[in-house]
Amino acid sequence: MTAMDDHDDDHGHDHDDDHGDDHGHDHDGDGGHDEDPAAFWEARYAGGQQWSGRPNALLVDAVGDLAPGTALDLGCGEGGDAIWLARRGWRVTAVDIAEGALALGARHAAEAGVADAITWERHDLADSWPDGTFDVVSACYLHSPVALPRGEVLRRAAAAVAPGGHLVVVGHAGAPSWAPPDHPHHTHEFPSPTDVLADLALEPGTWETVWAEEVAVDARGPEGEEGTRPDNVLHLRRRT
Ligand SMILES: C[S@@+](CC[C@H](N)C(=O)[O-])C[C@H]1O[C@@H](n2cnc3c(N)ncnc32)[C@H](O)[C@@H]1O
Repeated sequence: MTAMDDHDDDHGHDHDDDHGDDHGHDHDGDGGHDEDPAAFWEARYAGGQQWSGRPNALLVDAVGDLAPGTALDLGCGEGGDAIWLARRGWRVTAVDIAEGALALGARHAAEAGVADAITWERHDLADSWPDGTFDVVSACYLHSPVALPRGEVLRRAAAAVAPGGHLVVVGHAGAPSWAPPDHPHHTHEFPSPTDVLADLALEPGTWETVWAEEVAVDARGPEGEEGTRPDNVLHLRRRT
């Protein structure tokens, strides 16, 4: 795993490189098995850090030029994005279903000197949500191989954006360049930015699309292979 060291400018990397491939295949409540989501994700984080610890490159690109305010990070994992935001002056509410992820995030935030800027909240977003509205709401790789009502969660995410605020949804778009032919991302149909936008069913006239694109993100494979991974980004701004 990559250490949670100074990574302010060290983005543009991987989401997949250190952690296999099992988080991107189902993803909208049609999980392949009936395992309890909280138990699944707690077991995952009991194994320690799962992701790189670095901020996600597409989130960095989307919000890097914004003046800091309040941010909500949905499915924050160990907090790479939340810590990056906090270091740039944002006050962050970081939410995950797994206590283990939140504990790792809180530890890394303390090490980074931004503990006071982040509130870690445990929610199963299928059932409960943090209070309030936010200047940025992000959902980065909010995918799960077990049940997750992603469409419903993203509609709720849009409702949690304050007037003038931003919604950023980043997700996988296909298999990474190093993936073997039987990699499940070759056959999974990931929603495009257009699909996500349509599913949000936003009130006409109240949002503008800032960025909607499939992007090849630099990433490394599990054996350190250099390559790219196709990801989707949808960045919207709420007008009122
Ligand atoms: C693929 S990881 C992405 C983590 C992080 N956003 C990142 O980009 O590295 C998906 C995250 O969503 C969380 N998650 C899955 N289902 C959830 C739910 N129903 N409510 C809240 N968090 C959930 C998982 O615990 C996990 O941390």
